[in-house]
Amino acid sequence: MHLEPAEEKTLAGEHGETRQQMMELLVALGKVFGAERLVPITSAQVSGASYKTIGKYGLEWLQGLEARVSVPTVINPVGMDRERWREMRISPGFAEKQEEVIAAYQKLGVRLECTCTPYYLNITRYGEHIAWSESSAVAYANSVIGARTNREGGPGALAAAIIGKTPYYGLHLVKNRRPQVVVDAALPAGADIAHYGALGYYAGKLVDNRIPLFRGIRPGRDELKALGAAMAATGAVGLFHVEGVTPDSRVFRFDGAGLEVITIGPDEIQQLFREIPVKAVAIGCPHCSPEELGRIAGLLSGRHVTKPLFVFAARGILQSSGSLVATIERSGARVFADTCMVVSPGLEEFPSIMVNSGKAFTYVPDMCGAAVRLGTLEECVKEATS
Ligand code: F3S
Repeated sequence: MHLEPAEEKTLAGEHGETRQQMMELLVALGKVFGAERLVPITSAQVSGASYKTIGKYGLEWLQGLEARVSVPTVINPVGMDRERWREMRISPGFAEKQEEVIAAYQKLGVRLECTCTPYYLNITRYGEHIAWSESSAVAYANSVIGARTNREGGPGALAAAIIGKTPYYGLHLVKNRRPQVVVDAALPAGADIAHYGALGYYAGKLVDNRIPLFRGIRPGRDELKALGAAMAATGAVGLFHVEGVTPDSRVFRFDGAGLEVITIGPDEIQQLFREIPVKAVAIGCPHCSPEELGRIAGLLSGRHVTKPLFVFAARGILQSSGSLVATIERSGARVFADTCMVVSPGLEEFPSIMVNSGKAFTYVPDMCGAAVRLGTLEECVKEATS
């Protein structure tokens, strides 16, 4: 792997021990994946920010780092709303440890935007090289924005953030961004975001780590978000194309000739929507867009919840959507920032949870120890208010 003189100096330890370790990590990754060199990045997003997921050893590792990030860097959701953690029934002991994790990231110069939807912060554009690690954000950045990132692990993304570069391989190279399998999809009539999550849930299992080209669907941005997040959860998808919709598919005009064709129909998708009794409802995986908050507010306007309903979004989005948040909370629902239903211990008290997300549908059973039901946004609100 070719390194420039300044990179060689960093590797030799001339710019401090932490930068040396980070460069060693990037070089090791580059060698494993056959990168010829490093490529400069414009932003980084680092997973491994909830104390629930990184624990004592992750915190100690972070606290031992002595460096500053070189590019705009944000972190994934943490284990609690930083301001309203008591309302989430988070224990003071957990809150203290979570704040230590946040302080460690802050010392590194990371922006304290704790979200899996960093693309709403406008920190990347088409064609830019970035190093993001939240799998749903990777799928969105590559597919919907047309930026270029591999599915980084948390330490790899942090190393890239500190060095300002990442190994140039995989999805950074245009030649590796071509579709590898076609998915002919048909959704039930009147498909909701949740149906796109269900489609992604199925498709991820079938395509695994290949790049799919979808035909037969016309998703908007929120639907693309749901589709990619679910595929990244059940498969290892980091990039997908939708014919005539996603930017690379319009630039390169893939026709799918010669590729395996998988068909997913409305019956397969519909059968994931099984009705089971639930004790709570959670919306916002990935974090809600302003449009989703608007829909939730519209559905909850003038109604009152009869069981806990939690909504999750980035703090910046909530700050610019004050009246929507007020409408949602007037119903008795709670809107939390910085965290989510999966990485927070706050929802672990519920034995069953209803979600409208294919990704949450995948993770809630293991991460929250709860039975999970998938429903449309309307069904979720109906369940929480009836
Ligand atoms: Fe985001 Fe948590 Fe879902 S990090 S993608 S809301 S599991």
